[in-house]
Amino acid sequence: MKIISVVGARPNFMKIAPFIRAIEQHNQTCANEEKSYIEHLLVHTGQHYDVRMSESFFQALGIPAPDINLEIGSGSHAEQVGNTMITFEKVLTQEKPDWIVVVGDVNATLACSVTAKKLSIKVCHIEAGLRSGDETMPEEINRLVTDRLSDLLLTPDKLSMENLRKEGVPEEKIRFVGNIMIDTLERNRSQSAALDINRIIQSNRLTDALPHNDKEETPATSLLESGSNPYAILTMHRPSNVDKKEILAPILNFLTEEVAADMPVIWPIHPRTQKMLQQFDLWDKATACKNLILLHPIGYHEMLRLNMSATIMLTDSGGLQEECCVLGTPCLTLRWNTERPVTLKEHGGASVLVGNNINRIREEYQTALRAGRIPQRPELWDGNTANRCVEAIVNYPG
Ligand code: UD1
Repeated sequence: MKIISVVGARPNFMKIAPFIRAIEQHNQTCANEEKSYIEHLLVHTGQHYDVRMSESFFQALGIPAPDINLEIGSGSHAEQVGNTMITFEKVLTQEKPDWIVVVGDVNATLACSVTAKKLSIKVCHIEAGLRSGDETMPEEINRLVTDRLSDLLLTPDKLSMENLRKEGVPEEKIRFVGNIMIDTLERNRSQSAALDINRIIQSNRLTDALPHNDKEETPATSLLESGSNPYAILTMHRPSNVDKKEILAPILNFLTEEVAADMPVIWPIHPRTQKMLQQFDLWDKATACKNLILLHPIGYHEMLRLNMSATIMLTDSGGLQEECCVLGTPCLTLRWNTERPVTLKEHGGASVLVGNNINRIREEYQTALRAGRIPQRPELWDGNTANRCVEAIVNYPG
C-alpha cells in the first residue's frame, strides 16, 4: 500500500509526526505478521516556510525531511489552494498512491483532498468532524469540504462523530480514534518539562524590535529567578482578531493596561499579527510595554514548557485549547465559537469562549485567575491515536 501524507502549516506538524512513527512501527511488525507494507511519502505544500514556523518543528519532532516540497508560500486563499492543486496533481499522477492522508483544517488539507478525490485516490482525514458552525472562518470551509470528500474520517472525540452523522456521513466511513496531537504532547512532555523558562525567553526575544524593552529591567528576569511567579501566555493570529484595527487595538490596550499590570505576558508573535500591528501603527505601543514580552514564534517544546506553568493562556489557536485542556491551564479563547467544544469548561475542559469583547474578557480573566489548574483527559486522548489511525487505514474495506 502506498500512502502520501500532506502537511502545509505549523499546526499540521505535531499531527503528522506520530502518524509517520506509527507507519514505521507498522512496517517493523508487518515483516513478522505478514501485514501489508506501507510505502510512505511526505509532501509539504510550503504554506509555512519560515524556519521558525516550519523547519524547526521537523527537527524538534523528529519528522523526516519532506520527500517533496511544493513551495507554495504566501498568497491569497485562492492562490494558495490553486497553486497547491496544480502542483500536487503532478505529484499524484507520478506517484499513484492508494491513499492520501490530510490532517487538520489548513489550506493544504482542502487543496490536497480535492485534488486526490478528482483522481479517484482515497482520502483519509485525521481530525475529521470538527465544526465551529462559523462559515466566515476559512478553516471551517476547509473542514466542510475535506470531510464531504473523505473516504475515511478519523475523529478526535465523540462530539465530532455526532457532527458527521448529522451531516449524513455513512457510519462505515467514520472511526473514533482520539486526538493525535496528544500523542505528540505525551511523547514530548518530559523533554519539555526540563527546559528553563528564562532561557526560552532570552533566546527567543524580539530584542532588536524592542528598543524600549531593556532585558535587565523587565520582570522576565525575576520570573525566572523564582521559577514560580505568575505569567500569562498570549497567542493570536486569526484574521477575525488581527486583521481589523478596531478589534486588535482594544485587545492590545487590555493586555498592556490590565493583564501586564498583574503579571508578565509572554507573547510569541505570529508573522501575520506582527505585520498587522505594524500596519496599524500599534507596534510601538506593544514594544513600549515592559511587561509584554514579545518573542519570535517559538518551538514545540518551548511552548509546551511555558504552557505547563502558565497562570493563564489567552489564545485564538485551536491546538492550544486542546493542550490547555490536558495540562489544565485556564484558557481564555479569544473567539465566539470553537470547533473543539470538548475543551470547554461545560464539557469538563479548561477553556472559556470570550470573543473579542473586552468586558467579557476582563470578567473571565478574573474568574480564571481564581481557578486553579485542573487537567482533563477526554476519551481516547491517551497518546495512542496514531496507531489507531494506521490500523483504520490498513483495515479499510476494499
Ligand atoms: C494558517 C492556517 C490556520 C492555522 C495557522 C497557524 C489556513 C487557512 N490557515 O494561518 O488554520 O491556525 O496557519 O499558524 O490554512 N507568513 C510568514 N511566514 C510563514 C508563514 C506565513 O511570514 O512561514 C505570513 C504570510 O506571508 C501571510 C501570513 O503570515 O501574510 C499568514 O500566513 P497564512 O499561511 O496565509 O495563514 P496563517 O494566518 O498562518
